[in-house]
Amino acid sequence: MKKSCVLVSGGAGYIGSHTTVELINAGYDVVIVDNLSNSDMKAVEGVRQITGVDIPFVKVDCCDLEGFRKVFEQYQFDSVIHFAASKAVGESVQKPLEYYRNNLTSFMNVITLMREFGRPNIVFSSSCTVYGEPEKQPVTEQTPRKPATSPYGNTKQMCEDILRDSVTAYAGLKGIALRYFNPIGAHPSALIGELPRGVPQNLVPYITQTAAGIRECLSVFGDDYPTPDGSCIRDYIDVVDLAKAHVAAIRRMIEDKNKSSYEIFNIGTGRGVSVLELVHEFEKVNQLKLNYKIAPRREGDIIAIWADPTLANTELGWKAERTLDQTLASAWAWEKHIRGMK
Ligand code: NAD
Ligand code: WQD
Repeated sequence: MKKSCVLVSGGAGYIGSHTTVELINAGYDVVIVDNLSNSDMKAVEGVRQITGVDIPFVKVDCCDLEGFRKVFEQYQFDSVIHFAASKAVGESVQKPLEYYRNNLTSFMNVITLMREFGRPNIVFSSSCTVYGEPEKQPVTEQTPRKPATSPYGNTKQMCEDILRDSVTAYAGLKGIALRYFNPIGAHPSALIGELPRGVPQNLVPYITQTAAGIRECLSVFGDDYPTPDGSCIRDYIDVVDLAKAHVAAIRRMIEDKNKSSYEIFNIGTGRGVSVLELVHEFEKVNQLKLNYKIAPRREGDIIAIWADPTLANTELGWKAERTLDQTLASAWAWEKHIRGMK
């Protein structure tokens, strides 16, 4: 039996491209929309190559309600996964209006059109950033959200609330917010992966670019935190595992197994890894030496956070499967692929 179709907004991006692959693998049809503001068509071509499917792509800005409506008119899909957003935390502090405009308008447009066209299911890309600096580890979905420390983080909290209020008000609409921890790695084919523009702000792209000789030296931001080795702790989740969580969320809504119209799930491994542990693991698995130095703390960094993913394990039937070594090997294979290195 042919499964239903999913609209993937931001499908040319890092997580959207991997999710598209997993949706196709699971038998869904997919339509991708993206304005290519932080991606290019190579990712879509990579997804087509991996899956062997000529997935439809529409270049449209989700903030353009009229343009976006045409996609709803043209394609029959029951579900939407909304990845489209601007995501650089630091940039959001410099350009708050751009972030509020893009992230809120695009999301409200999606919900508006879903109502207009009677499309029932939406998965929203939220983030562990909503927890701020937690008092207790690991964090569950019940851990209180903290006031956001950046406009970006605020858009995630606001969109969660918009989704909650919309499914309450509009009969027939169901939503799942997935709170991702730190997505890293690339598809095992090395045909798709993360493509940061300019100097990477995130740890793993900085590590792989340093290993490739593009950056001279990785700065480890702080080794005097109250953690076992003094560096910050995160829950690094493989992007392919993360992609599969979206398939599980879509399936749950289509099969009507959700317990309420709005649900939230942490998507992480449940394991906290320090910056220094990650650096040494990267060196070990890829058999290279990384040039790094200890640098001052980065302003605004959370000391430690990792997920309790029990709810996703039991309710979504999803569990992170890939090992950190596999993930770090995939990140390096991808970097070598895009740099044309052997
Ligand atoms: P990404 O930048 O690689 O992908 C986002 C895609 O959305 C890009 O292809 C971009 O061109 C597109 N886009 C942005 N605004 C758009 C608009 N108005 N209309 C159409 N397309 C638009 O980012 P990603 O890492 O794949 O993140 C996907 C989602 O997951 C985002 O919502 C992000 O906030 C969220 N998230 C990411 C992380 C992370 O660390 N990568 C963590 C938690 C949550
Ligand atoms: C991880 C660790 C750094 C770079 C961000 C967003 C968050 C979410 C995920 C979207 C930290 C350290 C980093 C470097 C370093 N995104 N580091 N040297 O800060 O956990 O979260 O991405 O929702 O909202 O804030 O991720 O990859 O930037 O940092 O030492 O050059 O690596 O201090 O401890 P972060 P990150």
